[in-house]
Amino acid sequence: MSESVKRALITGITGQDGSYLAEHLLALGYKVHGIVRRVAFEREGTRLSRIAHLTDLVTLHSGSLESYASLYKIVQDVQPDEVYHLGAQSFVSYSFDDPFSTFQSNINGTHFLLEAVRLIVPQCRFYFAGSSEMFGQVTESPQTESTKFHPRSPYGISKVTGFDLSRNYREAYGMFVCSGILFNHESPRRGLEFVTRKITWHVAQIKQGKKTQLALGNLDALRDWGFAGDFVIAMHCMLQQSQPDDYVIATGETHTVREFCELAFSHVGLNYEDYVVVDPKFYRPAEVHLLLGDTTKARQTLGWKPQVAFRELVHMMVDHDLAALSD
Ligand code: NAP
Ligand code: GDD
Repeated sequence: MSESVKRALITGITGQDGSYLAEHLLALGYKVHGIVRRVAFEREGTRLSRIAHLTDLVTLHSGSLESYASLYKIVQDVQPDEVYHLGAQSFVSYSFDDPFSTFQSNINGTHFLLEAVRLIVPQCRFYFAGSSEMFGQVTESPQTESTKFHPRSPYGISKVTGFDLSRNYREAYGMFVCSGILFNHESPRRGLEFVTRKITWHVAQIKQGKKTQLALGNLDALRDWGFAGDFVIAMHCMLQQSQPDDYVIATGETHTVREFCELAFSHVGLNYEDYVVVDPKFYRPAEVHLLLGDTTKARQTLGWKPQVAFRELVHMMVDHDLAALSD
């Protein structure tokens, strides 16, 4: 292999973002390594489904964010030039059910990985997957890199701690560590538990006569929804700068869950009011009511901007789910 080929290590490569990022880095000529949980090798059909088309192109390593030893060994074996730390318990709702395991993987996992990188490859560039959930109960709108954090869930708290750890490794050890403060980003590869994919999957089922109802929680929550394929490009851009820094990545538009429903149902000629019911069981103990990102810094410094608009995203996801059902 040529000396100039860069090695990237991705945690969470089996997830939505990991799959798009792996594609992007392969297209740029990187040698891509990914960490997957051992169980993924036992259930390749489901657990590796998002990267099924890439498994011959990437090198997968079995490991877990709960195990410092496994992360240390993988970093030692791979000697990465860039680490993209995307692995996490990423479902906000579940973090209320099991905050302890969320903290374990999201806080300790981040700390373990940062420490392994510091000890083995301190010159390696490191991306931490921060989140707009860190803003939580927002103190200003739109949110920028300097907006105060007020997390409203164990997940949000875990990401604030991961963000603080990442910044501390940058400041204390001079490491090249960047955090992306990414607002919600979606795609046909989004997990079915998240509201956008739950809606588009149900729209397809309802259109095909396989379901009659969609039960949701808070329809008035506002989110700044972008396309995951656009957002992973920003992750890579951050690690190519001359200085490490943190960036808000968003679209700069916000829409309610209700608007998402309206658009998704109307795309197949249906009225969402005929199918959507509110079930309080989907409410959260504490809600994040409004998210809206200001990407001035990312636009000016990274030259990044989103390509896929809200309407196009909704249609892309509905069309995908309709096509998947007809296969
Ligand atoms: P995702 O689809 O839920 O993927 C999460 C990934 O983390 C999966 O590959 C999962 O592996 C892995 N993982 C979870 N727990 C693990 C553990 N204990 N050990 C090893 N791997 C583990 O999430 P995503 O949407 O791609 O998001 C990627 C990252 O960005 C996450 O850190 C998320 O919190 C953050 N983020 C996402 C958004 C968004 O809107 N998508 C916005 C801001 C920040 P399995 O396949 O084995 O479960
Ligand atoms: N999941 C879900 N299911 N959410 C619902 C439902 C439902 O039935 N009904 C209403 N919602 C509302 C939630 O209360 C929330 O306000 C909004 O829809 C979005 O919920 P999710 O799609 O679960 O995403 P999230 O905003 O909580 O978290 C996602 O974005 C974060 C970035 O802001 C995740 O991807 C996080 O990992 C990410 O950090």
